[in-house]
Amino acid sequence: MSKTSMEGLIAEFKSWSMHSVAALVFLYILLKDFKRIRHKSGRRPPGPPSLPLIGHFHHLLFGLPHHSLSKIADKYGPIVWLDLGSVSVVVVSSSDMAREILKTQDHIFASRPAVLLGDMLFAKGEDLLFSPLNDNFRLMRRVVSTQLFSQQRIDSFQDLRRESAFKMMQTAFEEGHANRHISLSDLMHEQFMSMTTRMLYGMDGHAQTQQLLEIVRDLTHTGWFVIEEYFPLLKPFDPSGEVKRLKKLGQKYFDLMDSIIDQRLKEISNSKSNREENFLDVLLAMSNFTRLQVKGLLLDNIFGGSDTSPDTIVWAITELLRHPNTMERLQNELDDVIGKERLVEEADLNKLEYLQAVVKETLRLHPVGVLGTPHFSTEATKVAGYDIPASTRVMVNFYAIARDPKVWENPLKFDPSRFLISPVDVKGQHYGVLPFSSGRRKCPGMNLALVSVAYNIALLVHACSISLPEGLTSLDVDVEEKFGLTVSKRNPLTLLIKRRLPSVVYAEA
Ligand code: HEM
Repeated sequence: MSKTSMEGLIAEFKSWSMHSVAALVFLYILLKDFKRIRHKSGRRPPGPPSLPLIGHFHHLLFGLPHHSLSKIADKYGPIVWLDLGSVSVVVVSSSDMAREILKTQDHIFASRPAVLLGDMLFAKGEDLLFSPLNDNFRLMRRVVSTQLFSQQRIDSFQDLRRESAFKMMQTAFEEGHANRHISLSDLMHEQFMSMTTRMLYGMDGHAQTQQLLEIVRDLTHTGWFVIEEYFPLLKPFDPSGEVKRLKKLGQKYFDLMDSIIDQRLKEISNSKSNREENFLDVLLAMSNFTRLQVKGLLLDNIFGGSDTSPDTIVWAITELLRHPNTMERLQNELDDVIGKERLVEEADLNKLEYLQAVVKETLRLHPVGVLGTPHFSTEATKVAGYDIPASTRVMVNFYAIARDPKVWENPLKFDPSRFLISPVDVKGQHYGVLPFSSGRRKCPGMNLALVSVAYNIALLVHACSISLPEGLTSLDVDVEEKFGLTVSKRNPLTLLIKRRLPSVVYAEA
């Protein structure tokens, strides 16, 4: 065949593809409109006017989605209906609506939709985080509750937490001694990743930790609004490049985890009886888990354990630096209760009332899981008089709820003392502040997170002298956010960290 006729064929094929795409898009619009008409048959929650084809997706394309959704709630109320491409999403933004979804009708809303992330990285939704509400979910939940997050297990990792925190301080002091500033986020993420992998499978090589840190960072950047998920017809064309990126990320994670699992299996078959059992061993011994599920469940906890708590600590120190009086009050409490002759221990945490208030206020103002993980209805129901069909995706805007002026006085002010005079806690019983969510899907790592976050904040404030780069003051510390699966501080908090207590205190540690 001549070159020109080949080119002609290619051109014809391209034009045919374009026509097919156009036809598919047209069909898609028809189906979508049909779906909309069908949906309109009930009484739907209100929502802003939608655009053809994309529905309300444009609201999420610019700025921070949790802010945009808060503005929509201000205008249309605490329960809104959004059409995001072919996916309908109900967003709730008040404590009453959260109680309805996460408590009263938790049995209906505690499922998960099938999402691209689950499909590509988290065992095709047969892990815990993305599992629908089924027997797999109940089994996974039971395994993590008993084998990872029982009080006994959490206590058994106390030495590991202390050792990891001391290592973190040592690194910070070495840098501080040389007058070098250090990113608090990097410091915390490294510490928590190494601690989490040791907790999960007893290993923590430097190269491995770095690789996992990269994987989790890339994962977090994905966010909840990948275009191809809401416009499935676009998936083969992958206009955002996310499908390819996630596939690559998945492969990187699976290769790494396969080598860790293989190594562990080899150790198990070679070792004598005194080998210490870890979480991975428990999973490998369970015949009803596939290897893909084991990798999924590990990723749930690697992601949950190494991103959320460090980001919360960075938010706490950010707010303390912006509020020197609050920092001083916390430091005074620590000096009074602990003194200056020893380091704070986890056993001290319950005696530190103001510290606990600082942790709660940080989680109120900066709940890193701002929109949680999407919930999904298993049957048709009514919420606040509106009809919610079966298979509707539901998001709870934890960020908006915790800043609701109807619930909180001066909601935007960082004021830990509000928790000193109130019995409100952050563990899922009070629906005005739900950093860990509530109900069947409540964060299973909550108790571990609360202790490690409080312990690290206490160490940083009591044992470390923290200063901003020269020339910067508390007024220069910003709270700009970066949206992803979790919300972190956009601009790195770079600090000079030195010893604050007599040297002998650290020598004895
Ligand atoms: C400050 C720290 C943390 C915060 C703010 C946080 C927050 C959350 C939130 C909001 C959810 C979603 C709940 C829902 O869908 O309604 C969640 C789920 C989850 N978290 Fe956490 N989390 C934290 C720490 C941890 C830790 C340390 C781990 C494990 C080591 C962990 C593991 C998980 C897992 C496995 C789920 C999925 C539960 C399920 O779908 O049933 N989290 N977390």
